[in-house]
Order: sequence, then structure tokens, then C-alpha cells
Amino acid sequence: MREKPRFVPALKFDWLTRFFDPLMKLSMVEKRFREALLFQANIKDSDIILDFGCGTGTLLIMVKERFPNAIAYGVDIDSNILKIAQEKVKDSGHEIFLNSYDGILLPYGDKMFDKVLSSLVFHHLARDQKIAALKGIHRILRRGGELHILDFGKAQNILMRGMFLPIQIFDGFANTSDNVKGLLPKIIEEAGFDEVVENKRINTLFGTISLYSAVKLG
Ligand SMILES: C[S@@+](CC[C@H](N)C(=O)[O-])C[C@H]1O[C@@H](n2cnc3c(N)ncnc32)[C@H](O)[C@@H]1O
Repeated sequence: MREKPRFVPALKFDWLTRFFDPLMKLSMVEKRFREALLFQANIKDSDIILDFGCGTGTLLIMVKERFPNAIAYGVDIDSNILKIAQEKVKDSGHEIFLNSYDGILLPYGDKMFDKVLSSLVFHHLARDQKIAALKGIHRILRRGGELHILDFGKAQNILMRGMFLPIQIFDGFANTSDNVKGLLPKIIEEAGFDEVVENKRINTLFGTISLYSAVKLG
């Protein structure tokens, strides 16, 4: 029998997952950073998009509102949060395909996507999970396809470093330390991506958020 995948839920405990959306609205500059990720990704109506770790589906709904003809998929390891996403997607009236990830194999064919987006997921993953996820994303991107990640990055100053501590206590030091040390670009490169760039930093109540992009050339 396959082991249950190990993962850190959106707010660490399953019973808190339903509070994720209200908390995001209250505590972070949610709209600003989601808009920044969409701007960076420069989505086109002809794109096939995946949101890796889509959570409650907020970003995917924003994609479809702006680019109704783009084909949008979301994948997440947590079946509880996917249930919330299913409800929100249904209410939105958009066609968005949501899939479950077992933490090992992304349920998509090779070279299927033009762009993969991911927001606030990689600080939930241990180093080995980060690399496995990135290699999986590399496999499902077409040549020339792009990865756009938004997540906690290197703290911009000592205040931002301090503000990030609650997230580290909540989501675990082992999972979050690569992020705050600014190692994500190196890890993305190690997984096979080219042209890895940190494009933007946004300071929030919980530390510095960075936006990274990378391309699959080979
Ligand atoms: C903080 S939430 C962010 C959700 C969403 N991307 C957003 O921006 O609102 C982190 C998400 O990562 C998911 N996650 C955690 N570990 C994962 C893994 N190994 N693979 C895929 N998703 C994972 C969680 O289930 C959760 O939905």
C-alpha cells in the first residue's frame, strides 16, 4: 500500500484550512502579490496553465476572469483544500480542472503546459520535496515553457527576517529555511531550469515575498 503523502496544510492544521481565505485577505497584501504574479506570468488566452499547490483556487479564478480562453488546471496535495476549491470554482462558473497530487507524480503528461504558476507553496516543502516537485514541473512544461513562483524569499532587512519567524514556527524551520536564505533560485536551477531570475520583492506582515521566473530550455 502506498504511504499517505506528507505535507503541511495551508494553515498547518486541517481544521484551520477553512479559515485560509479570510486570513489571507486580512493579513497579507494578497491582491497585490497575486496581481504581481499574474503580471509577471504574462498569460495569453492561448496558454495552458497549471497552478501548482492551487489551494482554494483563488489564483486560478483570477486567471480565468482575465483570460477566459486560457486552459486552467490546478493541482494540490491536500484533498480538504481541493474540496473548498471545487466549491469556489463551481460558484465562479469558470471551467477549471482540479486534480489531486500524491506528492510523487504530477498527474499530467510530458510537455503539456505552457506555464506553471505557484504561490506560497514551496516554503511548505522540505528540500527533497522542493526538488522532486520542480523536476516534475520541468517534465510537464513544454520546451520554452515558463515557471513563475511567488513565495517567501530572502528577507530584505532585519525587520522582515523577524516578521518571518511566526511562519517558520508554524510551517517548520526545515521547510522554510531554504526560502529565507534566498536559496530557491539555486534549487530551481538544480532541478533543470534555465534563466532563473528573482524579479520582484514585496514586504508583507509575514516577511519578504519574492517573485521568481525560470524557463525550460532543454
Ligand atoms: C499557503 S497555501 C497556498 C495556496 C495557494 N497557492 C494560494 O496562494 O492561496 C500552500 C498550499 O500548498 C499545498 N501543498 C503543501 N505541500 C504540497 C505538496 N507537496 N505538493 C503540492 N501542494 C502542496 C497545500 O495543500 C496548500 O494548498
